[in-house]
Amino acid sequence: MRFFLVAISLFLLVSCTQQEELKETSINSPGNINTVEFFIDASGVPKYRVIHKGTTVIDTSSLGFEFKDIPAFKGDFRIVSIDSGSTDEAWKMPWGEQSEVRNHYNELKVDLEETLENARKLNLVFRVYDDGIGFRYEFPEQAQMNEVIITDELTNFQLTVDHTAWWIPGDWDIYEHLYNTTRVSEINAISKRNHPDLAQTYIPENAVNTPVTMRSPGEQPYYLSFHEAELLDYAGMTLKVNNETLNLESELVGSDITGYKVKRSLPFHTPWRTIQIADKATELIDSKLIVNLNEPNKLGDIPWFTPMKYTGIWWEMHLGKSSWDFARTQVAGQTFSMEDASGTHGATTENTKHYIDFSAKNNIGGVLVEGWNTGWEHWIGFEDREGVFDFVTPYPDYDLEEVVRYAKEKGVQIIMHHETSAAPRTYEKQLDTAYALMQKLGIHSVKSGYVGKIIPKGEYHHGQWMVNHYNNAAFKAADYQIAVNAHEPIKATGLRRTYPNIISREGLRGQEFNAWSSDGGNPPEHLPIVAFTRMLAGPIDYTPGIFNIKLSPYKPTSQVNTTLAQQLALYVVIYSPIQMAADLPENYEGNPAFEFIRDVGVDWQKTVVINGEPGDFVTIARKEKGTEHWFMGSITDENAREISVKLDFLDKDESYEAIIYADAEDAHWDNNPTAYKITQQKVNSETVLDLKLAPGGGAAISIKKE
Ligand code: NOJ
Ligand code: CA
Repeated sequence: MRFFLVAISLFLLVSCTQQEELKETSINSPGNINTVEFFIDASGVPKYRVIHKGTTVIDTSSLGFEFKDIPAFKGDFRIVSIDSGSTDEAWKMPWGEQSEVRNHYNELKVDLEETLENARKLNLVFRVYDDGIGFRYEFPEQAQMNEVIITDELTNFQLTVDHTAWWIPGDWDIYEHLYNTTRVSEINAISKRNHPDLAQTYIPENAVNTPVTMRSPGEQPYYLSFHEAELLDYAGMTLKVNNETLNLESELVGSDITGYKVKRSLPFHTPWRTIQIADKATELIDSKLIVNLNEPNKLGDIPWFTPMKYTGIWWEMHLGKSSWDFARTQVAGQTFSMEDASGTHGATTENTKHYIDFSAKNNIGGVLVEGWNTGWEHWIGFEDREGVFDFVTPYPDYDLEEVVRYAKEKGVQIIMHHETSAAPRTYEKQLDTAYALMQKLGIHSVKSGYVGKIIPKGEYHHGQWMVNHYNNAAFKAADYQIAVNAHEPIKATGLRRTYPNIISREGLRGQEFNAWSSDGGNPPEHLPIVAFTRMLAGPIDYTPGIFNIKLSPYKPTSQVNTTLAQQLALYVVIYSPIQMAADLPENYEGNPAFEFIRDVGVDWQKTVVINGEPGDFVTIARKEKGTEHWFMGSITDENAREISVKLDFLDKDESYEAIIYADAEDAHWDNNPTAYKITQQKVNSETVLDLKLAPGGGAAISIKKE
C-alpha cells in the first residue's frame, strides 16, 4: 500500500561558513538502518551521502551527466520541490528463491532545475530500504530538450575506507572472468586484459563490473555490493576505480560506431544505481533489493514455464567426445546430406532419445540439444558470421519433429538452442520464424548464446544497442510463450520480476571453463565468491553436477576443482529455476550420489542463508515449493572446514529424516575428489548438524518429514 507522507522530511540548512550554502534533505529506511542525505553544493552540484547505522558508508558523492552537443549536467542546479513517500507491499514470485517478497521502502523524490537561462530539469529518486538503497535519474518532459545523447554518466560512490573487494574487470564484452580479491586501492583491471580463453574481451579502463562486493576492514565489518536494477534501453554500467581516492564512478559501456554511451528521447529514467548494505555477508544473499526495484509482473501467469532440471547434449562437446558440427566444412550453397557426416556429431536423433530416456527415468524435466542446426561447421575462427546460423534448419541426422514427439511421449521437454555467434542482426531476422517453429512444436524454453565479438563490429555485448537486443528477444519470446536462458548475456538486473520468462542466464565463468580453460579451470574459491557477487544479480545457469571430476578419458589435463559432494551442494547454493545435470548419463548410472540430483527441488517456498563469507564458504537451506521438503547445500574454498548448522528452520515438534551426502574423511578436490559418504539420520528443529567439508568440498542434504 502506497501513501505519501504529509510531513516532508526536508530541512534547509543554510550554513554561512566559507560561503558554502547547503540545501539538504534526508530520508531514512523504514527501520532507520540506512539514511540517504541529499544536497546541492555551493556550485549547484547535486550530491548525496549514505549512512548505515551511524557510519558513513558513502561519503559526499556528486551526480551528473555529460552530453554530446549540449552543456553537461555538472552544477548550477537548485531544488524546486521535494516529495517523499513510503511503500510496504508484498508480491508473489511465480518461481524463485521464495514464494513471497516484501517490498518496503521510503522514497525521496527531488525535482531539480538549472539556475541558468535554459532552466533544464532533472529529477532524482532515492528508495531507501533496510537492506540498501537504489536511486535513479529521471529526465522529465521539457521544452528545453527532447532527446539526450549521453557521453558520460557522472555518478560517484565515494568509499570511506579501503575495503576488501571481490571484483571482475569492467569488460564491455564478457563477464567470464575469475574473481579477484584485493583492496580497492589495489584493483588493477587493466592487468586482466587479453585472457586467451575469451572469444571477446575489451577492458578500456581500470573499472570493475557489477555486482562488485566489498567488506570493510576491522573487527565489525559491514558489506557493500554495488549493482544496478531494471536495465532497459540504456548502457550497462561499469565502475571506474580511483585507487588513491577510493572513489568509484559510473563508466557506461560505449560503442565505437556511435561514439556515445546512450541515446534517449525524453521523458525517460535511468536504471537504478544500487548499493546493498549488510552487517553480515549472508544478508546480501537474503536481500531482494534488485528485484524489488523492478516493476511488477507484466506477463501475468506463465503456466507454460515451470522450473525444471535438465540434461543435455552439451558437456560431451565441451569434453571433445562429440562435436556441435555435423560436417567440418561446408561449401557455399551446399545442402547437407548424410554422406557429409564427419561421424562425431552429438545432436543426432538417436543420441537425443538416449538423453530423453535418461531424463524420463530420473525425474528430470528437460533435455537441451546443442548443435542441432546448420551453421556450426563455420564455428571456429570465422570472422564474418552474418547469415551463418540458421535457427530452423536441422542437420540431416537430427529429426526435430520426431525428437519432440518422443520427448512428449516420455513426459520430457526439449530445450531449444540458438547460438547466435554474436551476429544479432542475423538472429533478429529469424526470430519470428524461429520462435514460431518452437511454438508449433510446443517447445517453451530456449538457451541462447552470443560467443564472439558483436557483429556489427564496434558494438559491445553490454552497450545500449545489445541491451535492447537481449531485452527485445526476451519480450518477443514471451509473445510465443517462450522462456529465455541467455549465455554471454547482459547482466541480470531483476527484470525477471517484470518479465518472468527471463528465467536464467550465464554471465559468469561457468562450469565449461573446467573442461578447456588454459588456466586450470575454476579454482575452489570461485563459487564461494560467486554466491556473494554474481548471484546477487539473479539466477545463474552454472550447469553443476559433474561426477567424473577428472574428465577422463577425454580431457586428461583438465579437471573440475571441487569434490563430487560439492557438485551436489551447488543445486541448492547456486540458485536457478533451471538446473542442469550436466555430466554424461553414463557417469551418473549406478552412482548412489545421483539420488540427490533426482531428488533435489528447483523451485522454492523459502530460503535460509545459514552462514558464509565471500571467497570462503557458504551454506544455504531451501524449502521446496509444494512439498514440505528441505534441501541444504554447503560449499567451501580450498580450505577444509567444520561447520555446525542448527536446523531451527524446521517445523517445531516434527521429526524429519535427513540424508547427508558428505565428503569422505580423506576427500580432497584434487587428490581424492570423488570420495563421499551417504548417511541417514533423524533430525528435528533442535538438531545441530556438524559437517566436515573437505578442501574444495561440500555437503548436500535432503530433509523430509517422516
Ligand atoms: C558458450 C556457452 O556458454 C556454452 O554453454 C555453449 O555450449 C557454447 N557457447 C556453444 O553455444
Ligand atoms: Ca559462456
